[in-house]
Order: sequence, then structure tokens, then C-alpha cells
Amino acid sequence: MVKIGKEFMERTQYRYLDRSDQSKGYPNPDLELGSEEDKKVIDLPSPEDIEIENIDLRRAIEKRTSVRSYIPEPLSLEELSYLLWCTQGVKEVVRNVATFRTVPSAGARHALETYILSNNVNGLEKGLYRFLPIEHKLVEINTQKDIATKIRRGCLDQPFVTSSAATLIWTAVPYRMTWRYGQRGYRYLHLDAGHVCQNLYLSAESVSCGVCAIAAFLDEEINPAMGIDGESEFVIYVATVGKK
Ligand SMILES: Cc1cc2nc3c(=O)[nH]c(=O)nc-3n(C[C@H](O)[C@H](O)[C@H](O)COP(=O)(O)O)c2cc1C
Repeated sequence: MVKIGKEFMERTQYRYLDRSDQSKGYPNPDLELGSEEDKKVIDLPSPEDIEIENIDLRRAIEKRTSVRSYIPEPLSLEELSYLLWCTQGVKEVVRNVATFRTVPSAGARHALETYILSNNVNGLEKGLYRFLPIEHKLVEINTQKDIATKIRRGCLDQPFVTSSAATLIWTAVPYRMTWRYGQRGYRYLHLDAGHVCQNLYLSAESVSCGVCAIAAFLDEEINPAMGIDGESEFVIYVATVGKK
């Protein structure tokens, strides 16, 4: 049997890499997926105006634990906005070719997208939304009744995917990363996702929320449920968040 994981680690060593598309002069990929004209765009409270309890970083790190059961209290739109800021907020757009955000990313490529499954967020209809990090807004993706169930099933039916106030689903747009790093870029996508989820764990502490990371999902179920092709964009990581 081919040990595919081992082979991946070997074949993504620098010595095997081809010239990247960047070095061949191909254009810089878009910084985010953006929104099509016919899609509903929803404003989010501006992160600067949101008042959040000051919580000691050491305390947040020491208190952090994975939380899988939540009280029914909703997340406010302000709190959601704050969590999105902490996980993917754009601090600077550099000459329209890169962004600096609240999390690090290999080469500042920021090849991740954030989707929000809203189960219990005040002022946000249930359904699936995508975060527009540059505009700090949401775009509506799917508000059909069965979307939450489909996503939960894609996560091996783990019940807290739908009992959370919100479930964040991070996808990767690999070309944004491989344009510079070739096949090695696939390693970096996963590393980047780890930083994002850790910021969610820690920032959730300041809004009385708990988080549980999820990597047990069926690619072949969750990608179609999200409406993405699983190649040019695929689910990389999931996390539930809710009041504890
Ligand atoms: C990459 C990764 C994937 C995970 N996937 C799941 C998952 O699918 N379901 C789940 O219940 N917990 C999942 N977890 C949470 C771990 O089980 C949890 O972090 C671990 O048991 C340690 O507990 P703690 O987070 O409370 O310290 C995942 C955590 C990580 C980092």
C-alpha cells in the first residue's frame, strides 16, 4: 500500500518543487472570493466599536478547553463580528496584492475563506454565510432549511455542529498559496488553519463562549453541501462556537 502521507511529506520537499507560477510571471490570484452581484451582503458591526471584556491572555490560555455542549443563549452579531475579526480580520491591504490580518499566514498569502453556519445568532437568519474579510461583511450563501443538517452529516453527524450558536467552516483556495509555493503550499494551508482556529479558541473566552475544533469530516459530503468543488476550494477545518 502506498503510504500517501509519507509520500506527500517527501515530494513536497524543496528539491522536488517546480518553478512556481509567481516566478513565471502569472498574475497574483484574488485576495478573497468576494461576492457575486446577485448575492445578499450583510453589514457587520465594526470591530473598533465593539466593547469586549478585557481578558488576561494567560487566563484565556489556561482556561481554554474544547467545549461541545452549549447553553441556548444566542451569540450577538457584535460577538460574531469580533470573533471573525480575531480569526481573519484584515489590518492592511498591501498594494492590492496581499493582506495583513490578525493571524499569520505563509507569505501573507491568506488562502483561507471563512463560512459561518448560523444556528443561533441574534439578527442573522439561520443558514450559511461567507465572511468578506476585506469589507468586513457577510455574504449569504444558502438559507435552505436542510443546510445545517447536511453540514452536520458531513461532519460525521457530530451533534454540536448544529447545537452551537455558530459553526465556522474554513475552506482553502489552494491556488492563492501554490501560486507562490507550488505543491509545498498544501502544507502551509494546514498550518495557517491551525493559527486561525487557535485565535478562535482564545478570543471566544472573552465573549463567554467555548469552541470545539473539528477535523473529522467527510470531504465528499461536506464539500458538495457547501456548494464548492473540493479541488479549487475545499473544506480544511471546522469549529463550533457557543455560550458556555
Ligand atoms: C486538528 C484537530 C481536530 C479535531 N477534531 C475533532 C473532532 O472532529 N471532533 C471533536 O469532538 N473534537 C475534535 N478536536 C478536539 C480535540 O479532541 C481536543 O482538542 C483534545 O481532546 C484535547 O482537548 P482540549 O482541546 O480540551 O485541550 C480536534 C482538535 C484538533 C486540534
